[in-house]
Amino acid sequence: MRVVETVVEARALCEKMARPIGLVPTLGGLHKGHLALLRRSRSDNAGVAVSLFLNPTQFGEGEDLGSYPTDRDADLAMIEKEGVDLAFVPSAGEVYPSGFSTAVDVGRLGMVLEGGARPGHFKGVATVVCKLLSIIRPDRAYFGQKDAQQMLVVRRLNTDLNLGTEIVAVPTVREVDGLALSSRNAYLDGQERQAATVLYRSLCLVQRLWHEGLTDVVDVKRQMRYLIHNEPLASIDYVSISHPETLEELDIVATGALVSLAVRIGKTRLIDNMEL
Ligand code: PAJ
Repeated sequence: MRVVETVVEARALCEKMARPIGLVPTLGGLHKGHLALLRRSRSDNAGVAVSLFLNPTQFGEGEDLGSYPTDRDADLAMIEKEGVDLAFVPSAGEVYPSGFSTAVDVGRLGMVLEGGARPGHFKGVATVVCKLLSIIRPDRAYFGQKDAQQMLVVRRLNTDLNLGTEIVAVPTVREVDGLALSSRNAYLDGQERQAATVLYRSLCLVQRLWHEGLTDVVDVKRQMRYLIHNEPLASIDYVSISHPETLEELDIVATGALVSLAVRIGKTRLIDNMEL
């Protein structure tokens, strides 16, 4: 595995790498969710590139950029075992050199849900993903359904800017009790870890209610909120039932609807989603 820190080296190596090339962009702090993306990329492609870059522009003020749980050596050891060919590990100065002033704004899709709660977040995500796709020029890039809105944002920018990469969605990897794997789960203490199952439990509740024939979104959301309020360590940031492509809020629950939520467990903000 080659580990490179500069854009010039990454570009040069990718030009020589066997195609197709699959890229897995990450912030680092790797877990089994990231591994699922890596393994899928490894089985689909001749060359696999991974980026480990804690992108500062997608974190807002007061968020956890300074404490985000990354461990470069552990991450590199993990991906080397998975047969990754290229690890791109740039510094912030390499990605955003002095004078950098361009940003990618995907419009409304980046303003609702996570974008509403974290202003500027998707501008940071879209800009860095656009840069990574331009640097590595992969045939395919892999993203998790765990971040469903991010997936839509990436598809949008890939189409709108004619980047020509195939965007591949990988299902959410969960712990046995349903908690979606996330680097931020490392912040949870024992009690909070228990409480964190409330996100998945509330998604399962929606699925059950829908199977039972309850389709009024107001009623469904009321029951979701009730379940989450019963968990003393949890506080709701938002619950949403939206169209899976436009993210417009729905009045009636329908097949394919995207149920998504953000909940604080103590100080840790977690997100999850499920497509019905
Ligand atoms: P990060 O949070 O490190 O996630 C990297 C990729 O792993 C994303 O596509 C994310 O959806 C996926 N992922 C995370 N947890 C997962 C899980 N439990 N199951 C399946 N996939 C999972 O998302 C980012 O980084 C950044 O925003 C990035 C795209 C790298 C841009 O900076």
